[in-house]
Order: sequence, then structure tokens, then C-alpha cells
Amino acid sequence: MIRLRVNGVARQFDGDPEMPLLWYLRDVLEMTGTKFGCGAGLCGCCTVHLDGTAVRSCTTPLRAAAGKSVTTIEGLSAAGDHPVQKAWKAANAPQCGYCQAGQIMQAAALLKAHPNPTDAEIDEAMDGNLCRCGTYQRIRAAILIAAGGKA
Ligand code: FES
Ligand code: FES
Repeated sequence: MIRLRVNGVARQFDGDPEMPLLWYLRDVLEMTGTKFGCGAGLCGCCTVHLDGTAVRSCTTPLRAAAGKSVTTIEGLSAAGDHPVQKAWKAANAPQCGYCQAGQIMQAAALLKAHPNPTDAEIDEAMDGNLCRCGTYQRIRAAILIAAGGKA
């Protein structure tokens, strides 16, 4: 039996502890905000927070979340008004949107650790989050807006 918290709610799971956290979120809990991209830890679409740290849920087995708190894009804020989400709107960051939940979760973890990140810290944190639409400049602008509290 695996016990964990997801977006503040206590959950338990009796199935395969090797199941990727991403499958648990999407298929068991039906939280589909977290996206499947590569399934191999290479694109960042599936990024969630595990005890506040950004992780790739496609390569995180459920057993690694035992006793921990998972936050998904659905739980980042109650009304979509987390400072990073507001900054994303202000910067008009998304294009197709597919990668953006992962981008936002990665950026939120970055800004929690580094409220005023340097260019190098942004590069390092966001390097593994790919965007096929090439919205990287708007994502960077959004991060700087969120850091400046200007959203
Ligand atoms: S789907 Fe997890 S990193 Fe690509
Ligand atoms: S906005 Fe389309 S993949 Fe990033």
C-alpha cells in the first residue's frame, strides 16, 4: 500500500509500485493537466512537484512518492492565480499549450528556490523543458515578470 498526498488530498494505492507517477495522476486520478510527451525524462511535459522539487513524473515510480506530497498543475493554485500562472498570461507565453503545464511547474520550483534568478539559473532550471512551438523567449519573459512581481 502506497500512501501519498496529491494536491493536499491524502491518497492510497494498492497497485504496482513501479507504475509511473504520470500514469497514476492521469489514469487513476484522472488529473490530465500533467502531459505525456516522451515518457523517457527528456522533454519535461510531465513535470510535477514532489515535496516541492520539480520531477519528471514519467520516470518517477509511484513507490518514490510514498509518504510524500505531489503537486500538479491542478494544485498549484486554487484559481489559476499563482504568480507564475499570472505571469504566463501577462507574457502570453503559450502557443499550442502542450508543454506549458510542465514549463509552469518547472518555473514555479525555480522561483521558489531562486526568487530573483539569474539568466544562468533560468537556463539551468529550464534546460530540460522542451517546447516544439519555440516559445522559449516568452517563457523567459514570463519568469522575469513573475520574479519581479509585475504580473
Ligand atoms: S513525458 Fe516525462 S519528460 Fe517527457
Ligand atoms: S507551446 Fe506548443 S509545445 Fe510548447
